[in-house]
Order: sequence, then structure tokens, then C-alpha cells
Amino acid sequence: MTGHVTWSDEYSLGYSPIDEQHKQLLNLLDMLYAAEQANEPLANASDVLFRLVVFTETHFAYEEMLLELVGFPKLRKHSLYHEVMKSKTRAIVQDFRKNHAFDREEVLLFLRDWWTNHILQEDMQYRPFLADLGLLT
Ligand SMILES: [Fe+2]
Ligand SMILES: [Fe+2]
Repeated sequence: MTGHVTWSDEYSLGYSPIDEQHKQLLNLLDMLYAAEQANEPLANASDVLFRLVVFTETHFAYEEMLLELVGFPKLRKHSLYHEVMKSKTRAIVQDFRKNHAFDREEVLLFLRDWWTNHILQEDMQYRPFLADLGLLT
């Protein structure tokens, strides 16, 4: 399985508060992947999964507040993507708690693909609005 997730410059928006959050999110995904590779018991992934739920929701709230402040015109659509992912991430953790339906490989691939696509295709769209305000480094 190729679920390894590492940060690279292509994910950088050039705005460090967001970049740091995205790095931490990808890092949590990579910790899940490492646990999978090491064949660790499911219990070892629980701490990371719970952190992922909290971190996902914290990041979305931060990002939506930022987008409101900079007047990003597609905020509503962007927030809808976040809402769907919030529900999915919570559902993953609920499945995990019940344990039976938890397919680690499927979950890891889904999380990796969603996050990398979202950063590259959706988050990148608000970059010019940060640039206009001189917020990029
Ligand atoms: Fe986003
Ligand atoms: Fe984001």
C-alpha cells in the first residue's frame, strides 16, 4: 500500500499559519500509515484518530474565519466541502470505536487523497486573496 504522506513545497500556500496546520494534518495521516505498516494493533491508532477529528475541525474553523476576513467569494462552496469531510472523519472514528467496519487501508487512502486534493485544488484557490493583502511570505 502506498499511503505514505510527506509534506512537500507543492502543498505550500506561502501563508505560514495555514501551512503549519496542513503540515500537522499530513503528519497525523503519516502516523496512521506508519502504524499500519508496522502492523500495530488498532488501539494504537485511536489516539491519532481522535486527534485527527479535533485537528480537522479546528483547521476548518480557522480557515473559514480567515476566508471570511479576506472576502473569499467561494467561501460557501468551500465550507460545504469542509462540512462533508467533517462528517466523514467523525464517521471513520465512530466505525473505529465499533471496530468491526474499520478498514484501515481504505480509510488511509481516502484521508490521504482527500487532504492532498483539497489542499492542491481547493485551498490553493484562496491563495491569490491572501497575496492581494500582502499576507504571503
Ligand atoms: Fe479548505
Ligand atoms: Fe486547509
